Amino acid sequence: MSTVRVLTGITTSGTPHLGNYVGAIRPAIAASRAASVQSFYFLADYHALIKVGDPARVQRSTLEIAASWIACGLDPERVTFYRQSDIPEIPELTWFLTCVCGKGLLNRAHAYKAAVDKNNAAQLDPDADVTAGLFMYPVLMAADILMFNAHRVPVGRDQIQHIEMARDIAASFNHLYGEHFVLPEAQIEDNVATLPGLDGRKMSKSYDNTIPLFAPREQLKKLIAGIKTDSRAPGEPKDTEGSALFQIYQAFATPAETAQLRQAYAEGIAWAEAKTLLFERIDQEIAPKREAYEALISHPERLEALLHAGAAKARAIATPFTSKLRHAVGLRDLRSQPGEKKDKVAKAALPSFKQYREADGQFYFKFVDAQGRLLLQSAAYASPKEAGQAIKALQQDDAALATLPAATDPQALRTALRQLRAAQAD
Ligand code: TRP
Repeated sequence: MSTVRVLTGITTSGTPHLGNYVGAIRPAIAASRAASVQSFYFLADYHALIKVGDPARVQRSTLEIAASWIACGLDPERVTFYRQSDIPEIPELTWFLTCVCGKGLLNRAHAYKAAVDKNNAAQLDPDADVTAGLFMYPVLMAADILMFNAHRVPVGRDQIQHIEMARDIAASFNHLYGEHFVLPEAQIEDNVATLPGLDGRKMSKSYDNTIPLFAPREQLKKLIAGIKTDSRAPGEPKDTEGSALFQIYQAFATPAETAQLRQAYAEGIAWAEAKTLLFERIDQEIAPKREAYEALISHPERLEALLHAGAAKARAIATPFTSKLRHAVGLRDLRSQPGEKKDKVAKAALPSFKQYREADGQFYFKFVDAQGRLLLQSAAYASPKEAGQAIKALQQDDAALATLPAATDPQALRTALRQLRAAQAD
């Protein structure tokens, strides 16, 4: 089986907190150790400029996030770990994609729409304080993903729409210029915890309720002492349900340790004592990493060297791929003859699959010949993934035809499928 490419970006706009560690850093590093994946992790510092206008903060956050991931065990030999702004091909690809991306698609992006809705509610100009950067955010993100032809993109639920947009943009580009891009899929980790913060709501910078991942020991202790509890006295049984303290403990402890704390709650452990247990448990996991983190923070040159090596690895892919894309769109050496490269010509004569979504919210595909004549129309699929899987099966062999609606011209359909497979095998 060929390796699956997994890619994710971390916006360099803040200081990593325990919620980031449990929800993203720890699972991502564990996943990067799997044998069958090729992982790309990058510091999305171009994205940071969209929300942060303070240069010192962008720099500091980049340092802290790079140091955190390395200190937590990300192996830069094994994965490709780089800084977005070290890859000049990314903004170049962003422009190519901008030119095939419908403006209407971007109008529908959640983050942009939320900004417009807020302005409308305040009876302001709909685009008041909305930068073109915010509007273009999904295109930059599509370039990040498509540059490395990532198959899977682990993200939070709030980012699913962005991955769908990356697919749409990739499909538009492929349609116009040939099959250059893999259509990526979002990968949502359902079983990783979202950590509650100090006030019991989801730990998030926007609620100002975070515990920094690498707060010094004493500060960590103080912050944990400030986690919201109820007013039950020592000796009174306590509820684990809805207890932020319990949930955070669970994210760090083994099942056996968690069961012990549950028991202690029932037996009326004092909140102060539970907080001490939590502090010691977290510190046990974090202390060695904190030491590594502090060493990296005080040696930024080590991180720079590591990021440059990562950029070189990333550019070994990005530079030749960008040359190919430049050629595909027509940014060419004037001495080369138009149509000289066979890929675009061959593509023009090939049948193709078209994936789309209908107003009913369902997903479909059709298969058309080189002249655009309809050969096969799919039924509805609940997700783009299922539609994509059916297409993939058809690209392999005819077996999947049995599960699809009958074609008006089965003969032409089979011939076209064979033609497509032959071209893919080339
Ligand atoms: N937008 C992502 C976030 O805020 C960060 C990001 C930028 C990203 N580019 C990406 C994530 C590419 C995955 C793939 O979380």
